Amino acid sequence: MTNDNYSRRSALRNLAALFAASPLAKAQLDLPYTAAHVPSLDELVNVFEFEPICRARIPKQNYDFIAGGVDAEWSLRHNREAFDKIALRPRMMVDTSGLDVSTTVFGDKLEMPILIAPTAGHGLANPEGEVATAKAAAHVKTILILSTNSTQPYEKVAQASTFPKWFQLYPGPDLEGTRERVERAVGAGFKLICLTVDAGWNSHRERLLRNRLRTQTPPGVNSPQSARRRQREGEEPQKPPPYRLSTTLMHRLDWRFFADLKKYAKVPVIIKGIMTGEDAALAVKHGADGVVVSNHGGRYLDYAAATIEMLPEVVKAVNGRIPVLVDSGFRRGTDILKALAIGAKAVCVGRPPLWGLGAYGEQGVVRVLELLQSELALAMGLSGRSNLASIDHSLLKYQ
Ligand SMILES: Cc1cc2nc3c(=O)[nH]c(=O)nc-3n(C[C@H](O)[C@H](O)[C@H](O)COP(=O)(O)O)c2cc1C
Repeated sequence: MTNDNYSRRSALRNLAALFAASPLAKAQLDLPYTAAHVPSLDELVNVFEFEPICRARIPKQNYDFIAGGVDAEWSLRHNREAFDKIALRPRMMVDTSGLDVSTTVFGDKLEMPILIAPTAGHGLANPEGEVATAKAAAHVKTILILSTNSTQPYEKVAQASTFPKWFQLYPGPDLEGTRERVERAVGAGFKLICLTVDAGWNSHRERLLRNRLRTQTPPGVNSPQSARRRQREGEEPQKPPPYRLSTTLMHRLDWRFFADLKKYAKVPVIIKGIMTGEDAALAVKHGADGVVVSNHGGRYLDYAAATIEMLPEVVKAVNGRIPVLVDSGFRRGTDILKALAIGAKAVCVGRPPLWGLGAYGEQGVVRVLELLQSELALAMGLSGRSNLASIDHSLLKYQ
């Protein structure tokens, strides 16, 4: 055996030993999944564990649609890594026997400051789709924000539960169709419009391109954009992606559009996709009822900063005038606690409920939300915070 061989082998052995000792690897190795054995719901101890089960249970193309980020997926990764730069300063000797994680958002009492972010195509995860998700949200008493690109009719989702729900709006391709969509949602009973502003151009999702999907929405997801695409098919020669620069949305998405929307919506309108103090201040100035700090879960502009990093400047610019929500990368109760300490009113989760839905249907979504709720409650209890009002910036230590 040459020295070279020897050192390579021992390096590999060391690496293997390191891997086996790492808590992350252990968590992965211990997971009781094989194709033949799907664990029961109560065997799962955190929300990450739903992802491999979802992956095993749904078609690859659907899983890739859910999992994927844009380009090199830097923002997707960084959304998670940024939480590691913030540690906690827990307080002791505080009576936390009456732990309460409930909150009131736009007048509605929720049992947790955790909402379901709008995500397209729940039918890709489970045939019941958004109807199952709406029932799960109602079960745990939180809000589902229904995507414009729902696989189920808005009205059917509205009727799935009596608990309040919000509607996410992708404007365009035309003003009239957009207005009709808003009126339809409000008429169906959605209590708030969440206007998404960070997705004006089709992004370069390499996982989808590898699956030879020409668009960002896989078959089965209805969207106003796909309707327009069908209309245009045959009219213009289409270059295959990745060379085609295309906008699926309204070309003119600006504050003038927002002013019109505010006039006809007749319900509160919040803006999702705000990433800077400057835009947050403009949102307040133009009458937004709230903002969601979001980089779309790393799916549009790669190298957009992690939202937990941008939250402080948005909270500062807003200065308590409207609620600030945040999403992108929230997977742990402590992640949520950090955002609340910075000043967020609530957080939204996108992929975890889809993993729950893909893995176990409605009950999986319930369990994902319950796990996050109980992790948050425990982190609060151990930090000497018995309710959301007692969580403030002094809880944080930046690394
Ligand atoms: C599969 C998928 C579909 C999404 N569809 C939409 C959508 O239709 N409208 C929207 O505003 N955001 C959409 N988003 C972004 C989410 O609302 C949210 O910003 C993001 O998922 C949060 O990050 P997380 O998945 O890390 O929790 C989607 C995200 C995913 C993962």
